[in-house]
Amino acid sequence: MNSPDRETVLDQSARKRAEISYLEGDAGRLARFYREWASSYDLDVGSERYSAPMIVSELAGAVQTAYLASERGAITVLDAGCGTGLVGVQLSRFGFQLIDGFDLTEEMAGNARRTGVYRNIQVDVDLNGALSQYPTASYDITVCCGVFGLGQVRPDGLRELARVTRPNGFVIASTSRRYLKATSFEDELRRLQRGGVVMPAQCLADGRYIADEYAHYWVLRIAP
Ligand SMILES: C[S@@+](CC[C@H](N)C(=O)[O-])C[C@H]1O[C@@H](n2cnc3c(N)ncnc32)[C@H](O)[C@@H]1O
Repeated sequence: MNSPDRETVLDQSARKRAEISYLEGDAGRLARFYREWASSYDLDVGSERYSAPMIVSELAGAVQTAYLASERGAITVLDAGCGTGLVGVQLSRFGFQLIDGFDLTEEMAGNARRTGVYRNIQVDVDLNGALSQYPTASYDITVCCGVFGLGQVRPDGLRELARVTRPNGFVIASTSRRYLKATSFEDELRRLQRGGVVMPAQCLADGRYIADEYAHYWVLRIAP
């Protein structure tokens, strides 16, 4: 890509990311926003060195090797807010084979479906509400990448991710630095720990996220 084109893509990506923070977690507005972005999302975030899908997938691989008894191909993974499937593709490269996903919009999830790495994808699923489509303790690992972001999912979405993950399984989630500062995510995490839902968290702090933004990557073990 030559320089003016590259700048246009960079501008567009930065503008889009800024716009999200004003959507206030409203499912209708978020769905409209991502519906429009779906066709150029991969190109846009790719141009800004979007590192989060690789980091989240590498953490999932490390967690499986370090703690889980089943071989990687037999581990069930839920990709919450799977978008166009950037995380699923990385998980699949690392040997995960049983990957399900959900998203708010068909347009983003349709791209994920076309990657061919997902077993099942559900749409119109809002993480700001109950994940009633998913029974308790369904997955070994739940990943949530780029979804706890300003204007998107509120911190209490974490509780639902923990619910659908089995005891001794793991939730792996990114939170951008700005999100962490502006929301009560860490309070929610402390509540879940005090309530015996998750064990004390491990965290890869201030890792690369996108462009010049940094994020925390949380690895939460569900209590036995
Ligand atoms: C920044 S994208 C990240 C997509 C993918 N996880 C990745 O890392 O490329 C955020 C995704 O979360 C979805 N999303 C946003 N708010 C959501 C919500 N409340 N419930 C479910 N999905 C949501 C959007 O539709 C979008 O596909």
